[in-house]
Amino acid sequence: MTTRHKVLITGGNGQLSADLAQVFDSPDTVVLNREALDISRPQEVQAALLHYKPAVVINTAALTDVDGCQHNAEQARSINSHGPKNLVAAAELAGSRIVQISTDYVFDGTLDRPYVESDETNPQSIYGQTKLEGERAMRDEDLIVRTSWLCGIHGSNILKTIVHLAQTDTAMSFVNDQIGHPSFTNDIADTIQQLVALQAHGVFHVTNQGPVSWHEFAQTILNLMGRSPSQLSAITTEQLDPPRPAPRPANSVLNNEALTKAGLQPPPDFRETLPQLLEVLCG
Ligand SMILES: NC(=O)c1ccc[n+]([C@@H]2O[C@H](COP(=O)([O-])OP(=O)(O)OC[C@H]3O[C@@H](n4cnc5c(N)ncnc54)[C@H](OP(=O)(O)O)[C@@H]3O)[C@@H](O)[C@H]2O)c1
Repeated sequence: MTTRHKVLITGGNGQLSADLAQVFDSPDTVVLNREALDISRPQEVQAALLHYKPAVVINTAALTDVDGCQHNAEQARSINSHGPKNLVAAAELAGSRIVQISTDYVFDGTLDRPYVESDETNPQSIYGQTKLEGERAMRDEDLIVRTSWLCGIHGSNILKTIVHLAQTDTAMSFVNDQIGHPSFTNDIADTIQQLVALQAHGVFHVTNQGPVSWHEFAQTILNLMGRSPSQLSAITTEQLDPPRPAPRPANSVLNNEALTKAGLQPPPDFRETLPQLLEVLCG
């Protein structure tokens, strides 16, 4: 006998899925990691969705190693592009709606203002291209949530790396010519829950507020940890040695315009949430 679950979350070992699992915590929620459901395998996807018949599938599963994608386009495409297509085909049979998590990397970063949802996409990396293909697989009733610079207390991410480097007195340098909205998985998960409750569809930018460069983000973390700023230096993207294989957008700032129009509060300034996360991470 099959069980009816309202929400199915893919990519269950990931950092965002960990916070989504908490936010949607209920006997009606099922969280599947890659071993339990590989989204690049159409038959496995169909079997899972027909078994659980979720009302909503939240697809966090992705190949998120941006430079790795650049070297392995085939694998990136099979997960980031074909994965969402497989989910849509199965969702048609199971009667599910999809929440597809996407990225600021669908933009080229050349605009001189924050990107709104309707701005033209022009991804510069294989990761961005394959994530955009994943977006394009969605139907009118599905929800696309674009977020940026994700980090939190679960999984491995830049916040945890900076905290570790700070605690071990290791010198670090970060670029000051890439600007974005650092976004915390707990805040993003909360807003996704509100969008699901509203049965929202279409494209929504969902990020914490407060645009900063990577250097300014690291500086804010060091300040809050009471560490000396002498550990940290600013460099330009051109000075990265070795250069990163995949290009990053210089302007990654996403305007959460659609959220505001839907009457929802965008996630708070990242400086509001950061102290609580540092308390957990630094003990
Ligand atoms: N990280 C960011 O800065 C960022 C920014 C904007 C948007 N996003 C998007 O936000 C979403 C969540 O990101 P995240 O940072 O939470 O990613 P994450 O921590 O890397 O988690 C992604 C998860 O997807 C799983 N996965 C990979 N291939 C799979 C497959 N074929 N089938 C099923 N699961 C698979 C991975 O499994 P394994 O653990 O086995 O590898 C991993 O647990 C992604 O869609 C990402 O593109 C991320």
